[in-house]
Amino acid sequence: MKGVILAGGTGSRLMPLTKVTNKHLLPVYDKPMIYYPLNTLIGAGIDDILIVSGPGHAGHFLNLLGSGKDFGVRLTYEIQDDAGGIAHALSLAQDFSDEEEIAVILGDNIFEDTIVEKIHGFKKGAKIFLKGIENPRRFGVPELIGGRIISIEEKPKNPKSSYAVTGLYLYDFEVFDIIKTLKPSPRGELEITDVNNWYIKKRKMDYGIIDGFWSDAGTFESLFRASCLVKDAKK
Ligand code: DAU
Repeated sequence: MKGVILAGGTGSRLMPLTKVTNKHLLPVYDKPMIYYPLNTLIGAGIDDILIVSGPGHAGHFLNLLGSGKDFGVRLTYEIQDDAGGIAHALSLAQDFSDEEEIAVILGDNIFEDTIVEKIHGFKKGAKIFLKGIENPRRFGVPELIGGRIISIEEKPKNPKSSYAVTGLYLYDFEVFDIIKTLKPSPRGELEITDVNNWYIKKRKMDYGIIDGFWSDAGTFESLFRASCLVKDAKK
């Protein structure tokens, strides 16, 4: 399976930290943020990886990660000119994916555990990964009935479960046709939640649960929390 890291977007929630650099190059404890999703994919045995970043500071990703040789993988780069949303960033991976299924991870998502068993055997449809958390309002939140996800709401005021949809997704090649049908959301983005709801409606969505710690790192609080979690895991 090939892997895609989505590291575009503006990082506006972290201003002024992101004024002269990219969010995904900021430190999470002792490493640049992008190392974490990269290591998550590498740890799952994925060695052909596309990094989608914004145009600003794109050269810094190259300086940092190069060809991928130091990590034992092959890295390819793609530029998302405007921050048109996660699904828009993913659409840029169509040629790279070469009609195969792909593992997609958000550049600001930090997973403690290996995902190798979780992605094993994936072939068709889509699969997402949920994490039970106290206040999921900031995330995509699934509604579950009888153990089945019946829909996902993006940043709901009144969450229908205590799970967050994490930024790790498995898709078959149909995902690129679905993205072409999407309309921008009220926040002006092509939403990954709309992609996931399409698969749910067609009953082609599977899910797994994340056991170890998980955090995004896109706000001051979550960036700080992610650093603490990584530090504590090293003890
Ligand atoms: O962290 C998990 C959450 O990520 C999910 O629960 C939500 O369903 C999903 O929409 C997303 O929510 P956020 O609002 O936190 O996403 P954010 O805009 O912070 O973007 C997360 C990453 O996605 C970012 O680090 C880079 C990538 N991205 C984002 C945008 C908007 C892109 O590559 N291009 C983009 O245009």
